[in-house]
Amino acid sequence: MCGIIGYTGNKDAGPMLLESLKKMEYRGYDSAGFGILHGGALRVMKDAGRIAEIARKVGISDEKGNTGIAHTRWATHGGVSQNNAHPHVSCDASIAVVHNGIIENYQELSSQLKAEGHRFASETDTEVIAHLLEKHYREGNHLKAFQETAKQLKGTFAFLALFDDKPGLILGARKDAPLIIGVGKGGNFIASDIVSFIEQTDRVVFLKDYEIASITANKIEVFTFDGEPVEFAPTHVAWEASDISKKEFAHYTLKEINEQARTLSAALDQDEEKINEFCITIKNAKNTIITASGTSFHAGMLMRYLLAKFAKIHAQSILASEIDQEIDLVEKDTLVIAISQSGETADVIGAVRKAASRGASVISIVNTAGSSLTRESKITLYINCGPEIGVAATKSFTSQLAIIYDIVFRLAGLEEKRAQLRDLSKHVEIILSQDTSIREIAKRYKITSDFYFIGRGLHFPIALEGALKMKELSYIHAEGLAAGELKHGTLALVDAGTPVIAINPGDETYDETLNNIAEMKARGATIIAVTDKQNQLYNDVIEIPAVDSVFFPILEVIPLQMLAYYAAVERTLDPDYPRHLAKSVTVK
Ligand code: F6R
Repeated sequence: MCGIIGYTGNKDAGPMLLESLKKMEYRGYDSAGFGILHGGALRVMKDAGRIAEIARKVGISDEKGNTGIAHTRWATHGGVSQNNAHPHVSCDASIAVVHNGIIENYQELSSQLKAEGHRFASETDTEVIAHLLEKHYREGNHLKAFQETAKQLKGTFAFLALFDDKPGLILGARKDAPLIIGVGKGGNFIASDIVSFIEQTDRVVFLKDYEIASITANKIEVFTFDGEPVEFAPTHVAWEASDISKKEFAHYTLKEINEQARTLSAALDQDEEKINEFCITIKNAKNTIITASGTSFHAGMLMRYLLAKFAKIHAQSILASEIDQEIDLVEKDTLVIAISQSGETADVIGAVRKAASRGASVISIVNTAGSSLTRESKITLYINCGPEIGVAATKSFTSQLAIIYDIVFRLAGLEEKRAQLRDLSKHVEIILSQDTSIREIAKRYKITSDFYFIGRGLHFPIALEGALKMKELSYIHAEGLAAGELKHGTLALVDAGTPVIAINPGDETYDETLNNIAEMKARGATIIAVTDKQNQLYNDVIEIPAVDSVFFPILEVIPLQMLAYYAAVERTLDPDYPRHLAKSVTVK
């Protein structure tokens, strides 16, 4: 959830780290800090607040020194305060550490360390790492101290450290949290996220669990936690530096919503052999579970419906965080399809590992190359939507859907629909062009305290997704419901003026959903319909193109993303960085 970055090279580390940290702000943004080595002195600067503000306060752009580490925080252990911000230092302040993850045995370790005389300055789990490094450090043997420390830690971690007696060196260790080396010219990077250094280099080394990296300006070495050297070869990542610029858009979220005409097509550019193998694996599975979290779970729900409807394949969709309840039913011939934008969501990784330990096969649909989930999977299909920086998932969702539709149509032998799927992008452009009218609607309802999103059949997962977007971007309470479920309880909440977003295009669910809309309208609700078919019950209409009905879900979610985005903007909130959230949820 936090972002960590280290740079060592021939430029000043301060400004380099600041730029990198800004790119990773979406991973957490309640505090930030820097540790810089210069002329044998280690300087730590940190505070609570947003990166730009802290950087200005500490004057990081003018800081001298070629080696440094930095951190952007999403608090887990310890409140949001200057003391709890990273880097954390050893008692004599000779070692500085930044960390992403959770050290589960930190209480036990800190009690031991305190009994041995170490003094702690924060309430974080991370600080034990700095003191353990201090305890294990014997002059000149930095790597050994790292090995001893890493082996004592339980939980999930990627951490970096600087030692004031070793200018130019950054050491990093990984277990269950991402850590990637960026191989640059005249300097190297090591970070939790490729976007942090992609403007400088696209040559990367993905560290594996239980590995330690030792980095200087012109040398990279990798070792196991036992100190054995590990061979590695840098690979190129396909992401472009331009992918991480906001371009002419006010926010990343808006830019990413607007990219969807292009990203939908990109998702369909798959290696034929690989996608066929993916489909055959589904066809041959005796028992299939689709697992994911949040927005990706909504894509998984839709996959379940589509598999049943078109390919006549039964699958369960289970929230990754709830898989324990059904794990006993997972066996050797179970197939788990995991869906994740980041490929790092702790709940998803936990779920697939548990399933794999019972003999299940894992295949996945992922955006981030080299991420943890790809390593747990027999086959991974990449959605190819480029980096998604806005904390709320937008383009990654429609890209997931594009691949899912293609898989289902292949399994069902529906070649004609596959061709139609390739054609959807032009309809996306039509929806995006309604920007002004959608903003108008968002403006009209910006002071409401509740929104209800309803949809039936394939539109139900989209109702859930629309409500999730509205909640996280605008902070307005929103509930997504299967339209038929209204009368089983929630109708009691509908009152004069309650805004209801009815996802009701003209397909086989239209008439029944219209009945539910009438029930709400009769109790005073205001109906905002997302549809290709007008009706007098609607107070406002967001029009979607009349396409083959199976494709409505991909199109109808886009105006809902726009509505949530504009609701946030109208409420003067920052849609890119919703409060309390972080992009990649690497803690359970
Ligand atoms: C919502 C959102 C989250 C993620 C969830 C899973 O907009 O972004 O709900 O969908 O945290 O993340 P991934 O897909 O990276 O596993």
